[in-house]
Amino acid sequence: MLNYIADIEKEALDSIEKADSRESLEQVATRYLGRKGVLTGFLRNISSLPPGERPQAGKNANLLKVRLEKEIRQVESRLEADRDGEARGIDVTLPGRVPARGASHPVTQVLNEICGIFSRLGFDIVEGPEVETDYYNFEALNIPKYHPARDMQDTFYLSENIVLRTHTSGSQPRVMEKNDPPVRIISPGKVFRCDSDLTHTPMFHQVEGLMVDEGISFGDLKGVLTTFVHQFFDSGTSLRFRPSFFPFTEPSAEVDIQCVMCRGKGCRVCSKTGWIEILGSGMVHPAVFENVGYDTDKYTGFAFGMGMERVAMLKYGIDDIRKFFENDVRFLGQF
Ligand code: DAH
Repeated sequence: MLNYIADIEKEALDSIEKADSRESLEQVATRYLGRKGVLTGFLRNISSLPPGERPQAGKNANLLKVRLEKEIRQVESRLEADRDGEARGIDVTLPGRVPARGASHPVTQVLNEICGIFSRLGFDIVEGPEVETDYYNFEALNIPKYHPARDMQDTFYLSENIVLRTHTSGSQPRVMEKNDPPVRIISPGKVFRCDSDLTHTPMFHQVEGLMVDEGISFGDLKGVLTTFVHQFFDSGTSLRFRPSFFPFTEPSAEVDIQCVMCRGKGCRVCSKTGWIEILGSGMVHPAVFENVGYDTDKYTGFAFGMGMERVAMLKYGIDDIRKFFENDVRFLGQF
């Protein structure tokens, strides 16, 4: 009889171990411990055994019952844990989750590209302050107080003589005051104007360029800017120098490039003209040289100032400048 119990034990433990679902475990439990189960039946009929065998058989059968109940509970909680894991979507065979990768902002990418091109042409990169004095932002650049040219730029005044710089041109007198010619710099950075629409934001980026030495001519300006445009856009892009006015250059020119959208045929972006303005430029005005103590008989130079978002928009076909500053990763992720 004791062998019989040992056989049930082996068989039952085997089935419990093999159970791979709650259903199959339930079946094993019913088979051995259910109302009509093997072990339950055995205990119920214990009185039919010879009296001498009853105590030991009853004890062993009860011990087995307790053991089987414990084993079943253990397997049950293991199966439950596995199922929870699946429900939470844990599939250990899947590859790990790759964290989202950050990247440079498109304006930063354009800035780096511009700096790269001018560095290779021998220009140094310098930065000026965003909070600027009235002197460097205006006066030193031949824009006296109450001069109508101040109307060209809608200025944020912090106090009577302190402004958020309206352009990067203040870097010109700052650099020239500290360095004798030859000077060959570009100065990128943020600028601020009280202005906001499809093509204007109150903060945007410019890059200033300045080259001063003996014998610098308008031809050098044309050569440098043409090289830049051919490298930044493509070598087939034409440029046009159009007479203009800036107080700190004489003569002054605005530079247009052939419309990158329609290749000069005329479209909505270029207002059917085939040309798009990208920067202001000119030969440095003698008054600016005098303000920094340069000898105007000896030195000449050229300067230019370019909007960074503007060239980024043309390069990538973006129609609204505000997209740069809305921080929408669906937009930013495309660069
Ligand atoms: N500072 C001018 C602006 O923001 C752009 C500019 C024009 C810069 C001519 C220059 C220049 O250096 O020579 O509108």
